Amino acid sequence: MKGIILAGGKGTRLYPNTISVSKQLLPIYDKPLIYYPLSVLLLAGIRDILLISTPTDIPNYQKLLGDGEKLGIHISYKIQDHPRGLADAFVLGADFIGNDSVCLVLGDNVFYGKDLTALLTKAMHQAEAYGAAVFGFLVKDPTAFGVVEFDKQHKVISIEEKPEHPKSNYAVPGLYFYNNDVVAIAKDVKPSPRGEIEITSINNYYLQQGRLQVTLMGRGISWLDTGTPKGMHKAGDFVKMVQEMQGFYISCIEEIAWHRGFISTKQLQKLGENLRMTEYGQYILSLVEGKS
Ligand code: DAU
Repeated sequence: MKGIILAGGKGTRLYPNTISVSKQLLPIYDKPLIYYPLSVLLLAGIRDILLISTPTDIPNYQKLLGDGEKLGIHISYKIQDHPRGLADAFVLGADFIGNDSVCLVLGDNVFYGKDLTALLTKAMHQAEAYGAAVFGFLVKDPTAFGVVEFDKQHKVISIEEKPEHPKSNYAVPGLYFYNNDVVAIAKDVKPSPRGEIEITSINNYYLQQGRLQVTLMGRGISWLDTGTPKGMHKAGDFVKMVQEMQGFYISCIEEIAWHRGFISTKQLQKLGENLRMTEYGQYILSLVEGKS
């Protein structure tokens, strides 16, 4: 399975923070926001990744992540010149996807939790077996999201994008798994009333064919909002608190690459040495020394 990170957009809700820099490069406590969705792909074992962003931001991502070799993965880049909608990821990414299945993660979505890797593995298998797999996450106010509608038997009957009157409190997070059909489906998606080619249209297409699996994320998983300055601040506080209390880091991409066997202990040590002036680097070195 291949992986796409969509990290474009204008980030207007975070102005003036994002006038000169991509939202997904802003810090969530001790690391750039993009590390969090990238870590999700690494946890899923996905090593071939396309990062889509704006013409001005791509060079900054390249400076940060390079071609991925240091993490034992491959990262390529694609420009999105205008935010046409999330489904554009599969139009722009068609050549990259080739004949493979694909996971799309939004560059501003943060996930953390005990059962995350198991959920990811399950979703990958579901997408390959049925066609598509997404998640539902219980939120207080779902109006800013794709929202799942269930019938009386708890069967999913539709997904609505940003409904004024949501039919449930289950939002669809920005993490989607599809088989290769998604490339052809995305090409046919028509713009919604707000002028975007919506990921929700793709999900409803699979749903109507009986090929969409929706798994509800339970208490064990946190899905953090980074849509506003307050959301980003709270997410940073959460990461700081968990890391200080547990001693384990959230979304340390070097650690995950090492655990997955993408890089050796020697390579991990080199990455830690380069960052030894920070607590983040010291954490990596403590892994090498077997102290974490
Ligand atoms: O976060 C989950 C939600 O993401 C889902 O529940 C919704 O169904 C889905 O439409 C999406 O809603 P958002 O309102 O959060 O989408 P937004 O337009 O903010 O875009 C999400 C990220 O993707 C954002 O960081 C910018 C980036 N993006 C967005 C568009 C439309 C792009 O890189 N290119 C684009 O064309």
